Amino acid sequence: MLKLVPITEENFKDVPDYCRRCFYWQSKGDFNAKDMTEEIEPRRLEWFLQIQKEIECSGGFIAYRDEEPIGFVQWGPAKYFPNTREYQSGPPSEDAAFLSCLYIPKEENRKKGLGTLILRTGISKIRQQRFNAIETFARKSNSDNPSGPLEFYLKNGFKTKHNNSDFQLVRLELE
Ligand SMILES: CC(C)(COP(=O)(O)OP(=O)(O)OC[C@H]1O[C@@H](n2cnc3c(N)ncnc32)[C@H](O)[C@@H]1OP(=O)(O)O)[C@@H](O)C(=O)NCCC(=O)NCCS
Repeated sequence: MLKLVPITEENFKDVPDYCRRCFYWQSKGDFNAKDMTEEIEPRRLEWFLQIQKEIECSGGFIAYRDEEPIGFVQWGPAKYFPNTREYQSGPPSEDAAFLSCLYIPKEENRKKGLGTLILRTGISKIRQQRFNAIETFARKSNSDNPSGPLEFYLKNGFKTKHNNSDFQLVRLELE
């Protein structure tokens, strides 16, 4: 049984270390690995709480399988992710939820259908909101990408919108 739970002060510890210290999307092209320090964490938590307050069903979610945290996913209106403006294939559309991250930290949990399950669970939540679609930047040359590789999104029904760079902007329409 898989569920996506919005991030709170109590469960923030279940966000993967890497993501608790990452302010990549919230910065304007100037966030580096050296900036991923413990000091970032309160600012990160504050961002999660703020976006959830402003836009229902947006921000960060922890994926629990039974009671075990096994993944992290993050989405919302693109204006909350200023770094999207730095991408050649962008910007994402205003009518879409921008899916910035989808991450299963443990290698042994990957390639068993869990990413697909997290994505589908997220899609059913996003469907209930005012968004017309979901968009993400999916990387063509390498699976090391905040939201995962291009193949993963094409396999899940996304269509390429802009393919003018290694990071393609892909979109799934929500009927
Ligand atoms: C990308 C990710 C979310 C996908 O989840 P997953 O559970 O491994 O994927 P699934 O098993 O649901 O795969 C579904 C389809 O996506 C594609 N796919 C998944 N992972 C892939 C990869 N690494 N390379 C190419 N295609 C891939 C395949 O087509 C797969 O179908 P198949 O099993 O029939 O071949 C997960 O592998 C992950 O978190 N990877 C780490 C990504 C990363 O380093 N992110 C940086 C964080 S900042």
